[in-house]
Amino acid sequence: MNNSGSTVGDSKVKEEKPSKTTTNRKIDHLEICCDDNYDVEMSKSTGFEDILFVHKAAPEINFDEITLDTQFLKHKFNFPIFISPITGGAKEGKKINKMLGKIAEEYSIGIGVGSQRAALEDSSLESTFKVVRENAPTAFVAANLGAIQLNNDYGLEEVNNAIEMISANALVLHLNPLQEIIQPEGETNFRNLIPKIAKMSKELKQPVIVKEIGSGIALEEANKLVRANVAAIDIAGAGGTSWSKVEAIRANQQGYDVNSRVGELFGNWGIPTAYSTLEVSLLKDKIEIISSGGIRNGLQAAKALAIGAKLVGIALPIVRLSYTSTEKQLVNYIEQFIQELKTTMFLVGAKNLDELKQVPLAFVGKIAQWLTARGFNLQE
Ligand SMILES: Cc1cc2nc3c(=O)[nH]c(=O)nc-3n(C[C@H](O)[C@H](O)[C@H](O)COP(=O)(O)O)c2cc1C
Repeated sequence: MNNSGSTVGDSKVKEEKPSKTTTNRKIDHLEICCDDNYDVEMSKSTGFEDILFVHKAAPEINFDEITLDTQFLKHKFNFPIFISPITGGAKEGKKINKMLGKIAEEYSIGIGVGSQRAALEDSSLESTFKVVRENAPTAFVAANLGAIQLNNDYGLEEVNNAIEMISANALVLHLNPLQEIIQPEGETNFRNLIPKIAKMSKELKQPVIVKEIGSGIALEEANKLVRANVAAIDIAGAGGTSWSKVEAIRANQQGYDVNSRVGELFGNWGIPTAYSTLEVSLLKDKIEIISSGGIRNGLQAAKALAIGAKLVGIALPIVRLSYTSTEKQLVNYIEQFIQELKTTMFLVGAKNLDELKQVPLAFVGKIAQWLTARGFNLQE
């Protein structure tokens, strides 16, 4: 389907890869994701509605003593929140990254930059990423590259350049097979990536985090990543932004009808975020976990943290607020999110995140069916 040069029905003839640069693509992504006229979110849910807390009428704690600080990859966070990798590589991205860097520093939370490939190709774009570290001198900042680039001649030197560009605390390598297949200029040779990820994990000074971008990570894949010595997994499950839909919209704009239709069909593809978090949390003694993908409020976040995630990641609401609204509105969103998380903890009697992991939970409906169908023991 990609780059085939064939004519299918009324589809555009593709003799060669589209000539869009990485920067143009990044701008397309921002514009599509932040335009109300496009529906880029999945219609299926994250699955968190089927994980239930048990209300405590007598929580026996003082709301004011609830604390949310945590450690992730040996770095201290005041709140268990990670601003998921979003942008950089274009002027528009620089403005957003500046605002997000400031927020990360103010709250002492984590932030990931978007893929740095654009700046490795064109060093004049480095400042669009560096602005994060300039505004977040002490926060946890993660570098970002597509894992597929390891099949594209990227080795230790390129990866280290990305890390050094922003004095990153860790490197995120994202896995995005669905996006690449729908993207007209996508790269689809995913062979042999796990050994290459293992090599990076061994050779780099900084820890490696492997991340999906909205289709989730299953226990089987997580096991391979543990064996590859990856330090953390960001499951980035289904139920939020659909990269199949985003690329379908782009493909349609460019006249690649087949890519566009296939992207629509796979718009809801993936393991819902709650299911994926639960699967990977079976390995939580061996690897640290970020739960993300469709996390939109503090109640969902509390559930993700209760089942084993160290942090929760948020992308779409944050990019929309930082692209179209004021810094104050973004701060209000974060404040509300924190208040929702604390309210949940109050109502289940958890003073801190360790206690939240001990509270009773009920798994009902589809998540219970999923766990049974996958052969997991619900009681465990
Ligand atoms: C505009 C935009 C650009 C993104 N670019 C990247 C990227 O460069 N690298 C990456 O790992 N993830 C990227 N993502 C994916 C997010 O980090 C996240 O995994 C995904 O959007 C699901 O989370 P959400 O439902 O909260 O949006 C991007 C997301 C958005 C909205």
